[in-house]
Amino acid sequence: MKGMRQYTPEKYIRTVENIDDSIVQNYMQVEMDLIRNIKGSKDKTFIDLGAGYGRVLHLLAQIARNVIAIEINPAMLSELRKRARKHRNVKVIKGDMLKLYKLLEKEDVKNPVLLILQNTLGTIEGDYRKVLNQMKLVAKRYNGEVVISMLKSESLRSWGLKMYSKLKAMVGEVDLEKTDPINGFFVSKTGYASRWWSSDDIKQIKDFFGGNVTKEILTPNFCILEIKI
Ligand SMILES: C[S@@+](CC[C@H](N)C(=O)[O-])C[C@H]1O[C@@H](n2cnc3c(N)ncnc32)[C@H](O)[C@@H]1O
Repeated sequence: MKGMRQYTPEKYIRTVENIDDSIVQNYMQVEMDLIRNIKGSKDKTFIDLGAGYGRVLHLLAQIARNVIAIEINPAMLSELRKRARKHRNVKVIKGDMLKLYKLLEKEDVKNPVLLILQNTLGTIEGDYRKVLNQMKLVAKRYNGEVVISMLKSESLRSWGLKMYSKLKAMVGEVDLEKTDPINGFFVSKTGYASRWWSSDDIKQIKDFFGGNVTKEILTPNFCILEIKI
């Protein structure tokens, strides 16, 4: 897991959460506001895919019926577990979101809100479409919705590369030979890779879920979709 080895909670908090970049700060704030405004949350299970160290865990625990946080990286998991202990309605699962349906088979899931935040979808090792497929299966089975938060390919060149240079301590230095700003693909010299999404990609994702887009936040830099399945 090349890309993810760069993530440790300390580095993540220092470099991402405290980044001096108003767009990233705004992106995190807009995600939080959207989550806070999800209707009927007290009757819903919030499932955070790639929960990291638990950046949004406290908010989720406060508003949800219950929370399931899924994470694969052991370094992130230890901090995530520590934070989860403060809440009675949070369960942490160590696992791969590519196997989401199976991971949830024996869990307490009701009207799930499946969250994939901070462009995590673009950093998956493996086929991101499999993740979307698993999300759809779970949302269908338990009568749920999905929240997909993505960075937009058009802004990788104008803003993203500058932003990544501020994250150098975590993601490494940009590999200009492998990075493709036109098609929204960032690769660093340490092997961290992130896909950013075009308007066509976003349309395809909406079509794939074929459901009811209940909210769509579109800025030049990011897009957040809330889709009821
Ligand atoms: C960009 S970080 C976002 C963390 C968190 N969602 C947030 O918003 O602060 C992506 C996280 O997803 C985790 N991750 C990546 N691929 C995964 C997979 N296949 N299954 C579970 N977690 C994964 C990484 O370890 C990392 O902690």
